[in-house]
Formats: sequence, C-alpha cells, structure tokens
Amino acid sequence: MKIAIVGYGKMGHEIEKHCRRLNYDIVAVIDNEDDWKTKSDTLMQAKVAIEFTAPHIVVSNLKRLLDLKIPVVTGTTGWKEKLDEIRNYCQKSNGTLFYASNFSIGVNLFFAMNRYLAKLMAGYPDYKIDVEEIHHTQKLDTPSGTAISMVDDIISENKNYKGWKLVADKPGEDEIPVEARRIEGVTGTHSLSYTSGIDTISLRHEAFNRDGFAMGALMAAEWVRDKKGVFTMNDLLNI
Ligand SMILES: NC(=O)c1ccc[n+]([C@@H]2O[C@H](COP(=O)([O-])OP(=O)(O)OC[C@H]3O[C@@H](n4cnc5c(N)ncnc54)[C@H](O)[C@@H]3O)[C@@H](O)[C@H]2O)c1
Repeated sequence: MKIAIVGYGKMGHEIEKHCRRLNYDIVAVIDNEDDWKTKSDTLMQAKVAIEFTAPHIVVSNLKRLLDLKIPVVTGTTGWKEKLDEIRNYCQKSNGTLFYASNFSIGVNLFFAMNRYLAKLMAGYPDYKIDVEEIHHTQKLDTPSGTAISMVDDIISENKNYKGWKLVADKPGEDEIPVEARRIEGVTGTHSLSYTSGIDTISLRHEAFNRDGFAMGALMAAEWVRDKKGVFTMNDLLNI
C-alpha cells in the first residue's frame, strides 16, 4: 500500500516504523508548509494519507487532502467543533475520511464497556461519576479527545448528566467532572469511576506505548482506502 505520512512527529515516526514492518511504501512525508509545495508530486501517488498533526492545522490539512482526492485517516485531536464542517466537506467532494480520537483497539473495547456501564448506571443516580485522563506534558489539547469521547458516550446514555467540565472549572451537579493531568512520559491513561456511599466501580485503560495507535491507524487505512464517505472505529470494528 502506498502511504503518505502527514505530520512527522511522535505519531508520524510510529506510523513509519510500522509501515516498514508491514512493507508498506511511504511515498511522501509532509511535516510543514514547505513540504506541501515541494512534495506535491510524490504525495499524489499515495493511495491513502495518515494525518497526525495539531489542532490548529488539521482542518486545512484534511481539506487539502480531500481536494487532492486522497483518502485520509486522521487521529489528530482537539478539533471536535469542526468535525461537522469536515464531514460535509468530505461528503460534498465525494471523498474518504476516517477519524478516530483513539486508534487503539483496547481503547475502543474500553469505549464499548463504558457505553454498556453508562446504560446500566443511568438508573442509579446515587453513584457519582469521575473521569480522569493522564498524558505526557507536550500534549496540546485538554482534556484529551479520548476523554471527550468517553463523556459524550456517557451523556448520551445517562440523562442525569447534561455536560462535562474540568474539575478546575468547578462542575455542577449535572456535569461530569473531568480531571486532566500532565506527567512527563505518560503515553495515555484514561479511567472512570462510579462512587456511592457504599462502593466504587471503576474502568481503566493504560497505553504502554504508541504501537496500538499506529497499528490501528494502519488497519483503518487498509480498510478505508477503497471506500467513500466518513468512517470511525465503530465502523471498522463493528462495535
Ligand atoms: N487518535 C489517536 O489514536 C492518537 C494517538 C496519539 C496522538 N494523537 C493526536 O495526534 C496528534 C499528533 O500527535 P503527536 O504526538 O505525533 O504530535 P507531535 O507534536 O509530536 O507531531 C506533530 C507534527 O505535525 C507537524 N506539522 C505541523 N504543521 C504541519 C503542517 N502544516 N503539515 C504537516 N505537518 C505539520 C509538526 O512538524 C510535528 O512534527 C495530536 O493531536 C495528538 O493528540 C492521537
């Protein structure tokens, strides 16, 4: 498979490592504005582009790739408010977009458990929810896209909660408190707990390294490259 890597930071390097292992052909690596100009010919050979950059640039990167008719898999987080705009852009241009706030298979199983638990717990308002995420100190967005996916799923199952807020911003009774911590070297840890005066029920996922994200993104690339439309991990994993 001919791949373009867009964003050659921590995740771009992981994608490269796994492309080599799987004998995928990396036809272009785009890591800044100059690369978009100087590498446009080789970029056009890509059957799929994998984009891991930053919240301020992701939307224009996705539009550029959709304009070039290159199917794109993106894992960049922190731009959820623009997702509808990009979804429409993709559909209007008859393009291909795969987006996941977290490509790890384990996290997506954890999401499914979170949805199931949220459904069960909706009838037990005595249990109060706490969500926590911990990441390395270079992470730009707070809270993580994964934590936002978790609380969105809980809110859609549990009508006792209307929204979420960072603990520092003093959430109200009907808002899920989210604690976001930054600790050097932590790849990504997410947990949630339901606590009553009697007991606590907890779910926790800890990523040991970035392999799971890169492997999931490449699995998505293989799966999506001949499809049209907008897809997520739920489509890929059928959960
Ligand atoms: N979805 C997931 O599973 C998952 C997993 C890990 C990280 N992430 C997210 O992926 C994103 C990238 O993470 P990272 O740790 O690799 O960040 P990083 O800062 O290490 O790398 C980002 C790279 O983007 C490059 N870049 C900047 N402007 C660009 C442009 N115009 N065109 C192309 N490249 C450009 C930078 O030079 C940099 O090398 C973040 O939003 C992070 O939260 C998602």
